[in-house]
Amino acid sequence: MKFLLITLYTFLVAVSFGAKLPSGFKKCNLKQTSSRLCLPKAVESALRQMDRPIKSLGLISLEPLVIPSLTIDAGSQYVAAKHTYQNLRVSGFNETTCSKAEFNYNEKTLNLDCVVPNFRMEFNYEIHGQILMASIYGNGTGWIIFHDNHLGLTFKLGEYEKKGKTYFSILHQQLSMQPRVIDFDVNNLFDGDEESADRVKKILKENVLEIYGDLRHGYEEAFGKIFAYIFEKVLENVPVSDIFG
Ligand SMILES: *[C@@H]1O[C@H](CO)[C@@H](O)[C@H](O)[C@H]1NC(C)=O
Ligand SMILES: *[C@@H]1O[C@H](CO)[C@@H](O)[C@H](O)[C@H]1NC(C)=O
Repeated sequence: MKFLLITLYTFLVAVSFGAKLPSGFKKCNLKQTSSRLCLPKAVESALRQMDRPIKSLGLISLEPLVIPSLTIDAGSQYVAAKHTYQNLRVSGFNETTCSKAEFNYNEKTLNLDCVVPNFRMEFNYEIHGQILMASIYGNGTGWIIFHDNHLGLTFKLGEYEKKGKTYFSILHQQLSMQPRVIDFDVNNLFDGDEESADRVKKILKENVLEIYGDLRHGYEEAFGKIFAYIFEKVLENVPVSDIFG
């Protein structure tokens, strides 16, 4: 019953097939076991270089990653409130470290375990409903930081041929996302009634990880789609032999 709406229209940029990765990207040979050592560094280094748009791949910048609109529906336990972000700007990917990035060539799955130390979201928000039995409404600006945000990401890939070259596409993705600590602030809760806003923000802060737990599935689904969308841009434009060597 979770409802999710993401618009990503700014991502769409026309590019030609057969593009090459920018020269700074590291290549790892997926058929060799050494790719286990090579891939985590390659992912980290690619993320650092995506702090600006890469036109040849149709990629927008990740610093920040701009998501025009994202709606996360109510949870099932504590949060009976749908919330919508407009002009959501996510940053911090350039400091990602990956402890694991493994490709299984037979199953064509890529498994990543990474940490984003400061996964920062800045936004306009609208919320209306109840959290932990307290009613909440508001419309304003705010920020959230997921500290030490652990991302476990699995892509199941398919292989196909285009103009005599092999390409991958994403068949399925799964994301788990668990921050260690969450900080946030929002302006203009309760139409600017500061007393009510402070009271409810205190309750939210004291229970923020439980609240995230209730909404986690919605965030994981949304960011899973967003990460897949970005990775797919690379995969659809660059042949496997030019991405992985
Ligand atoms: C990441 O980007 C931020 C600005 O968005 C910058 O302050 C920081 O130094 C960058 N970190 C790295 C490791 O490049
Ligand atoms: C929230 O504020 C924005 C800008 O002030 C406005 O366009 C929008 O209609 C408001 N939404 C609600 C639900 O009041």
